[in-house]
Amino acid sequence: MPDAYFESQPAPEEIRERIDGFPSWFEIDLDNLEDNLNQIKSRTSSKLIPCVKNNAYGHGLIPIVAHLETLGIEKVLVAKLREALKLREAGIGLKIVNMDPLFARSSYKAVVEKGITHVVYTEDAARTLSEVASGKGMKAHVFVKIDTGLRRVGVKHDKAANFLELVSSLPGLEIDGIFSTLNQNKEQDKIQVKRLLEVEEEARKRGIDPGLRSLASSDAVLYRPEAHLDVVRPGMLLYGVYPTTRDRGSGIELKQVLSFKARLEHIKWVEKGESVTYWGRFTAPRRMRIGTVHVGFYDALPRELSNRGRVKIGDGFRSILGSVSLNHILVELTDTGIEPGDVVEVIGREGENTVNAIADAAGWMTYSLLNHLNPFTPRVYLKKGEPVALLEP
Ligand SMILES: Cc1ncc(COP(=O)(O)O)c(C=O)c1O
Repeated sequence: MPDAYFESQPAPEEIRERIDGFPSWFEIDLDNLEDNLNQIKSRTSSKLIPCVKNNAYGHGLIPIVAHLETLGIEKVLVAKLREALKLREAGIGLKIVNMDPLFARSSYKAVVEKGITHVVYTEDAARTLSEVASGKGMKAHVFVKIDTGLRRVGVKHDKAANFLELVSSLPGLEIDGIFSTLNQNKEQDKIQVKRLLEVEEEARKRGIDPGLRSLASSDAVLYRPEAHLDVVRPGMLLYGVYPTTRDRGSGIELKQVLSFKARLEHIKWVEKGESVTYWGRFTAPRRMRIGTVHVGFYDALPRELSNRGRVKIGDGFRSILGSVSLNHILVELTDTGIEPGDVVEVIGREGENTVNAIADAAGWMTYSLLNHLNPFTPRVYLKKGEPVALLEP
């Protein structure tokens, strides 16, 4: 029942009332998510396994996956077993591929009982999973991770056919596919594609069907069509963020899904020559009206934005003054009629405070920014501008 999650949510008026009381919150535009999905589909004829690891890159795991399911997505990729289990607890039934290594037998049991597809690349893990599944009279589905040259995890490509032979001989396992992660270097990626295809060929020679073949994440969706194979696994593109700002020129039109809003907590006048924030990082060059917003690096705002970067208030962008604290930033408000309680767009979908712009200003990766968004901050989900779901952890 893909729509069940949204049907169980409070009515839009109730969500709006709750927002009125939030000091800060994320807004997640589900229509933009759908547009990005369609943009990705227009670049490839391969199937998609969206990467929803780390709380769907901060966007909120359950609502994002529930929405993807309504859009026809059949499988998602997670990094932690806990994420897979949370999805199952929420009644989400689509296929989940788990990349978390398992260290407890109880974790293997959970994988089998909850019908989670698991990633294997060691004999130990394959044998344990098979044993647990067989013990329950079940089959566990697996993706086999192959190290084609990134040298992070995976069975080395020249040993992979033997490993696939072992996995296919284990009574409790069923191979859904083989996958690998690219280096994101043009020449190296070519070698890695070749190696994965060689593994496939050798497996087939030995009478083993390796199932779906996958190599591509966002970078390869954009730049390596030869690596798309059967399935691509985009993360960042789906959330409407260019992995790096130079990717804007790659011909894909993304719409950022997330924005971050907060309210002005306090406003005061500061006299010429007075300093504000830790270490007196900003000294007023004239009498200034300064506002304090209740957000900071608790919310993933980079400390490197101290005295740098601007947030949107009303129609204009306003400078951040002084240091970014754990829970506060200060902004310049002279010559505005802005009052405490008014809304500040800390991260916007357009203009100078997008995820890409903030990451660039701070010298951060977009990945670091999205993957540090605080899970305790409420998230409001919008369709056609209307709030359709609320996550208030
Ligand atoms: C195995 C795997 N596939 C796909 C992705 C998605 O990457 P991206 O966000 O660059 O598309 C990740 C993310 O780190 C990953 O670990």
